[in-house]
Amino acid sequence: MPDIHLFKVAAPNVAKKAQAGQFVVIRIDERGERIPLTIADWDREEGSITIVFMEVGTTTRRLALLETGDFIADFIGPLGLPTHIEKFGTVICVAGGFAVATIMPIARAMRIEGNRVISIMGARNKSLIFWEDKLRGVSDQLIVTTDDGSHARQGLVTEPLKELLETGEKIDRVIAIGPSIMMKFCAKTTQPFGVKTIVSLNPIMVDGTGMCGCCRVSVGGVTKFACVDGPDFDGHQVDWDLLFARQRIYLDEEKRSFEQWQSQYGTRS
Ligand code: FAD
Ligand code: FES
Ligand code: MG
Repeated sequence: MPDIHLFKVAAPNVAKKAQAGQFVVIRIDERGERIPLTIADWDREEGSITIVFMEVGTTTRRLALLETGDFIADFIGPLGLPTHIEKFGTVICVAGGFAVATIMPIARAMRIEGNRVISIMGARNKSLIFWEDKLRGVSDQLIVTTDDGSHARQGLVTEPLKELLETGEKIDRVIAIGPSIMMKFCAKTTQPFGVKTIVSLNPIMVDGTGMCGCCRVSVGGVTKFACVDGPDFDGHQVDWDLLFARQRIYLDEEKRSFEQWQSQYGTRS
């Protein structure tokens, strides 16, 4: 699959406590930067954590080069508040792109709690679709979309979401996770129907423990730190423009870092 990788990491202490919606902060080596990655799955007996990540810049590209048996210097977690799981009734879980790995344990936990779970997963095209069967296995109904129609239904995840809301069937909660723009539009779709919509915010994080202030977001006019107060928040209350602006703060540095790394280590075919 282009640029998306799944790693199983031996991390027994993290696996022991991991819950749906939490994340780890990793550092590849002592000179590396810290990045947050969602805990996509865990096996307490084996003592392992599954992470799924997309290559977007220097650190994720470097991570992708690790091979079986290699080490990650720091693998800290579980961090963040677990997703609030309760018997709500009917829950729609929406995943965009690689966030299917984030939504899967949430859908699973919601179903175990007794909810009827309708999942919607969407990707740009067929080559980016993964864990379709895994998500189907933890959902009462699964709807798959691709932007270009190369697999399943053509269109964006917001379309089946709106249709489900329009049927008038009682929907008790929506959880939408994926690129920020997708989460914003899912929240906009559900707002007129008054259905509480939880999103998992992904601002830049450094320490992941509430100390650096980097992950500052505004929710309902109140400043929150996504790493300790979230990452889940009420999507109808999020200041999306602030989130988008803060995510772009280090674009120049990220570009420079990537170019530097490429010139040192070359490109991978
Ligand atoms: P860069 O070129 O440095 O950055 C590319 C873009 O990634 C930036 O413009 C910025 O928007 C974002 N980013 C960069 N540094 C950070 C950082 N320290 N923290 C957060 N975002 C950053 N990605 C996945 O592929 N899989 C996941 O499961 C996943 N889970 C996440 C969970 C949380 C709670 C958060 C906040 C982010 C998550 N991300 C996940 C995003 C991931 O952290 C970034 O893609 C990664 O940090 C990019 O690093 P880079 O050096 O490769 O790219
Ligand atoms: Fe530092 Fe949240 S990442 S305060
Ligand atoms: Mg980086």
